[in-house]
Amino acid sequence: MEIFLDSSDIKEIRGLNKANLIDGVTTNPSLLASAGTDFKILLKEICHEIKGPVSAEVTAPDVPSMLKEADVLRKIAKNIIIKVPLTWNGLQACNILSAKKIKVNVTLCFSASQALLAAKAGATYISPFIGRLDDIGENGIQLIEDIKKIFNNYKNIKTKILSASIRSVDHFNAVASIGSDVATVPVKIFKELYKHHLTDKGVDIFTADWKKSGMKI
Ligand code: E4P
Repeated sequence: MEIFLDSSDIKEIRGLNKANLIDGVTTNPSLLASAGTDFKILLKEICHEIKGPVSAEVTAPDVPSMLKEADVLRKIAKNIIIKVPLTWNGLQACNILSAKKIKVNVTLCFSASQALLAAKAGATYISPFIGRLDDIGENGIQLIEDIKKIFNNYKNIKTKILSASIRSVDHFNAVASIGSDVATVPVKIFKELYKHHLTDKGVDIFTADWKKSGMKI
């Protein structure tokens, strides 16, 4: 499974990229707005640090304006992926962009039917939001399972499942077991992925025993 960082924090992205485990980045208008800096410069910096796909989202409501914004975003860097919302206009924009071989991430997906339509519209990625479904008492992980099952039924579907709105390590593990192509995780959750208290305890014990022995490597 590919791992994307769901972040627009360039310092954190640089720090977490040191082990070469980050395959891409997803941003959204809220994340870019919270950075409080020029979004084009920021996206350029992110695209320079992470060579894989970096999603940047259009915010216009109508198709022609979405396409204009997509043009602006695409000029920022070669690895920008255009993110469009899963609305009627978003599906039309996705269809037009993907016909021009422009990669599109269709976001804010909350149902299997939405995912299937995005795939038919030529989406490179479909982003189902797990945490936001859980928030309203529904089962976000079940949605990933349903989409995976549907996509497996049709060999012509090439759209990748990009599990989003991941709120826990359990979410991450669950989507990996289902076979999600990508999981995009916030910085906080990424830092929990490699942590285990028994690992820390084990390192402490081994270090203490080694010190006592007086030996050196
Ligand atoms: C993904 O592309 C979205 O930016 C993100 O996963 C949304 O997560 P949230 O529901 O925690 O805001």
